Amino acid sequence: MEYRIAVIPGDGIGPDIVDQALLVLETVGKKFGHTFHCTKVLAGGCAIDATGNCLPQETIDVCKASDAVLLGAVGGWKWDNLPGDQRPERALLGIRKELGLFANLRPAMIFEELADASPLKPEILSGGLDIVVVRELTGGIYFGDRGTRDTDMGPAAYDVEQYSEGEVRRIAKVAFDMAMKRNKHVTSVDKANVLDSSRLWRRVVTEVAKDYPEVTLDHLYVDNAAMQLVRNPRQFDVIVTSNIFGDILSDEASQITGSIGMLPSASLAQGNFGMYEPIHGSAPDLAGQDKANPTATILSVAMMLRYTFGLSAEADTIEAAVKAVLAKGYRTPDLYTGEGTLVGTQEMGRCIAGEI
Ligand code: IPM
Ligand code: MG
Repeated sequence: MEYRIAVIPGDGIGPDIVDQALLVLETVGKKFGHTFHCTKVLAGGCAIDATGNCLPQETIDVCKASDAVLLGAVGGWKWDNLPGDQRPERALLGIRKELGLFANLRPAMIFEELADASPLKPEILSGGLDIVVVRELTGGIYFGDRGTRDTDMGPAAYDVEQYSEGEVRRIAKVAFDMAMKRNKHVTSVDKANVLDSSRLWRRVVTEVAKDYPEVTLDHLYVDNAAMQLVRNPRQFDVIVTSNIFGDILSDEASQITGSIGMLPSASLAQGNFGMYEPIHGSAPDLAGQDKANPTATILSVAMMLRYTFGLSAEADTIEAAVKAVLAKGYRTPDLYTGEGTLVGTQEMGRCIAGEI
């Protein structure tokens, strides 16, 4: 088969890690007889430098004409002092909205070989960890009405949290469908003791649950969820939540694994279209030095093969290759604890490709 992929290397370590992901993609393609047509486009700081716009129209057009998007990372100090609406991060919000990427899947799992990396006590994690945070990605406070107005306490700024039933229903379905393929447990996170938008969220999620009688549904307030995640993370299977709560809790969940250089993510639209990226950022201090861990981006390619292209054997092959390379003791600097073989970005990519 032939597939079209828009590739956004972005800023910082983005180009370093994307190159290795493309090497792995090409290797899988050769093995299984697929051709991946990749078109590189600009977004983020590099796009600001080249065009004055963090998300050029051409980038949106190429993404829309593709079957999937692979993204490295965007942002860096260089652009940190630009006004909020011109920062590289805007490109991410813009691309999510333009492409209708409403469902963000952020797995937090612990690789057996890297269990020591977690900051939590081993007894809390014994038996492993495998959570998926399903974050609503195109609604809520990040996209709501915003503005400034005068108050008797001086000028005030506001951002509105709003969710429609339709927005909640479609993200809830993604979460329940995901739970059906996993351990059949959904935890919906909200702040229904305070927020009307959360009360609507809870009501709609509860309605959707009726179509999934095999799935157990719990509700947690977000403050309690943040606490439970470090107290007993193994109680979770699928966590479904709003854009802002998901932003925060997915960072917390990833930190529990201790290896954010290993974690991929998917942002899905209705249908099979999706954008795939590592959960970590652009780490500008490591850019171009062959030090970044390309594994999260390589595993993002596996997610792309599985979710957008329906190529599960190919995805399994990549995931198995990553495990094999870890088992052989290869470690990028972020994972290196003095044992095994220290390798750079490129060698890690070559090792994983070599296992395929
Ligand atoms: C993320 C990031 C983005 C977000 C920022 C950079 C806009 O934190 O993908 O989690 O808040 O969604
Ligand atoms: Mg975030």
